[in-house]
Amino acid sequence: MAKILGIGNAVMDHVVWMDDYPKENSESRCSGMQERLGGNVVNSLTLLAQMGHQTDWMGTYTKDLMGQQMLKLMTQQGINYESAQYCRQGKTPVSSVWVAHKNTSRTISHYRDLPELSFDHFARTEFEAYDWLHFEARNTEALMGMFNVAKCFLTHQPLSLEVEKDRPLLDKLIPQASVIFFSQSYAHLKGFHHAGEFLKQMHSLAPHAQLFCGWGYEGAYALSAKGVLYHEAATLGLRVIDTLGAGDTFNAGVIDALLRGHSTQEALTLATRLAEKKIQQFGLINLFSNDQRIRLGNLHSLNAYKGNVIKPESLDFSVIVLKYKDSAKAYVNNCPHANVPLDSMYKVEIDPRALTLKCSVHDAYFQMSDGLCVAGPCHNQSLTAVAIVIDEQGNIFLA
Ligand code: FRU
Repeated sequence: MAKILGIGNAVMDHVVWMDDYPKENSESRCSGMQERLGGNVVNSLTLLAQMGHQTDWMGTYTKDLMGQQMLKLMTQQGINYESAQYCRQGKTPVSSVWVAHKNTSRTISHYRDLPELSFDHFARTEFEAYDWLHFEARNTEALMGMFNVAKCFLTHQPLSLEVEKDRPLLDKLIPQASVIFFSQSYAHLKGFHHAGEFLKQMHSLAPHAQLFCGWGYEGAYALSAKGVLYHEAATLGLRVIDTLGAGDTFNAGVIDALLRGHSTQEALTLATRLAEKKIQQFGLINLFSNDQRIRLGNLHSLNAYKGNVIKPESLDFSVIVLKYKDSAKAYVNNCPHANVPLDSMYKVEIDPRALTLKCSVHDAYFQMSDGLCVAGPCHNQSLTAVAIVIDEQGNIFLA
């Protein structure tokens, strides 16, 4: 499986479902509400993590209440945020989203007061470690420099760009990318009402790139680097439940398919089907599993120096998930010494040489292999092991 770096905004989406879009200055009751992790690139990473890829997010975040919730959700969804840029000032970006069932519309109002990712921060990345770099086309002046520095280190790895809105310098950025996702609204903005004509025009700007464009109820289009146009029709009669993030799902589908060696045409088909699967369910979680197993993350996004603390909604305790040799171990997050969560004071630190983890409260050290306390106040007592199973994609579930 591949290691993917996604560069873009992370957002908290406050989603409200209703039958009909409300009238201004009216009061109505909604049928459902959810706080979820959002942002185009982050949504794509959520899906790529479910497919078993190792997904790193780079963008800016702060640690206000919403920001802390956002980082927790990232961990739960298998996205590693350790390379992201922390900002002391500003607020976590929030989107208020109204999903109206009647016409399957989603209306987004976005609040942002956070600095953009800086070039200096980005330039410290170890680019060679990645199999794919995926960018959101925003902050385009800085993006020019980011593309340039990344390209100095990349040999064969694709660099993809998602173009949703019109931004300055796009005519200079587009030729630099190897895979480009355009939105239908961008094509309209450029005066095109046929995806094929639009993509052919873009091909003259980026003659070596593979181009993709979703086209609503018509399905999606792609143009290969050789200039061959493909169309994948949408499946008729689907029960549309939630379209928020469908485009981001499509992008994840393309990235995954191309990474697995599929052609432009095959990637288009696979990604269209994936986006259709998404619109038939709420949100992006568990898109690939119809079973009710409780997921504890993905093996490929575990950190060798820190235990992941996960609190599945359906459990009344949290679980520490650890990378152990080529596999994982899980323990109930409760120290037998003082009956407190191990991360009460600080993160759960791992010593990868001694293969121990440490309780942050009174410094008890436990063997990662079996949870036995080998040093500290509860010597010879043990953490309670949690039985897990790991699937072929590296997804970790409660057994
Ligand atoms: C969906 C989405 C939301 C986010 C908004 C940002 O594509 O990424 O998750 O709030 O768009 O523009």
